[in-house]
Amino acid sequence: MNDHSLEIPGNLTLTAGAGSLPKILVESAFSRAEIYLHGAHVSHFQKHGEPPLLFMSAASEFAAGKPIRGGVPIIFPWFGPRDGHPAHGFARTTEWELIATAILPSQAVQLVLRLPSSNGYGVEFMVTVGDQLSMELRVTNTSEQPFTFENCLHTYFHIRSISDISITGLSNVHYHDNVADLIATEGHEPIRFEGEMDRVYFNTTATTEIVDPGFGRKIRIAKSGSQSTVVWNPWVAKSIRMPDFGDEEYVGMVCVESGNVADDELTLSPGDHAVLAVILSSESL
Ligand code: BG6
Repeated sequence: MNDHSLEIPGNLTLTAGAGSLPKILVESAFSRAEIYLHGAHVSHFQKHGEPPLLFMSAASEFAAGKPIRGGVPIIFPWFGPRDGHPAHGFARTTEWELIATAILPSQAVQLVLRLPSSNGYGVEFMVTVGDQLSMELRVTNTSEQPFTFENCLHTYFHIRSISDISITGLSNVHYHDNVADLIATEGHEPIRFEGEMDRVYFNTTATTEIVDPGFGRKIRIAKSGSQSTVVWNPWVAKSIRMPDFGDEEYVGMVCVESGNVADDELTLSPGDHAVLAVILSSESL
């Protein structure tokens, strides 16, 4: 719950965020971050002296039952649309509980959130705010049956201009192109953007990098426990169709998402657990 006893004076404070939703403010020696209990949603991470790492839409809703547009939505237990159910699962629209906080020897600030009311599984999300942003989504099968699910940390990155950036690390990887509805293999050139892109790269554990000359910054996305990488930018027409996203905001964002989706879905035996871990770091070009 909104347990103020877990606050760390000067480093971790529970407050009211947009839409009066409970929000955790984190101040580390290296960076600032904000995490909503709604969706266990990291909405902000910024290293001192750098632009924010994460994109947040100015048109985002902050309301019960609605996903937040930007930051790091947690996608679980399914990815994408599902008949009669909310797209991308319910984890991103559920209020999570803050269950633990700590200052690590590195001076990074760490917190753990738990998804309440599990149905045969337990889900915890650990966020570590330091010189880099580390996130771990741990799913445990507490039932007597196998449990199959998809997961994804649907990370929106803040970039200077979509036309100038490139993404490396996915050469030779097979992907499903959701725009053209075809399967293809990535070439050797870095990925660049000239229109809507919505691709699921399969069977890859590779570290990817976003090279952003506009901000003079390179963002590194290192991951483990993840076989899928999703790359998404809605471009013009889809931006206009999305009510909680500005018509021009596609220029300043790109999603590079780490998870296990579609054919990469996971099945846990009773008692087993899976950890999806992502470490986001940045450096000057
Ligand atoms: C991406 C999907 O991961 O999420 C896209 O590949 C989708 O197809 C996008 O449009 C945003 O989804 P939502 O439900 O947050 O609007």
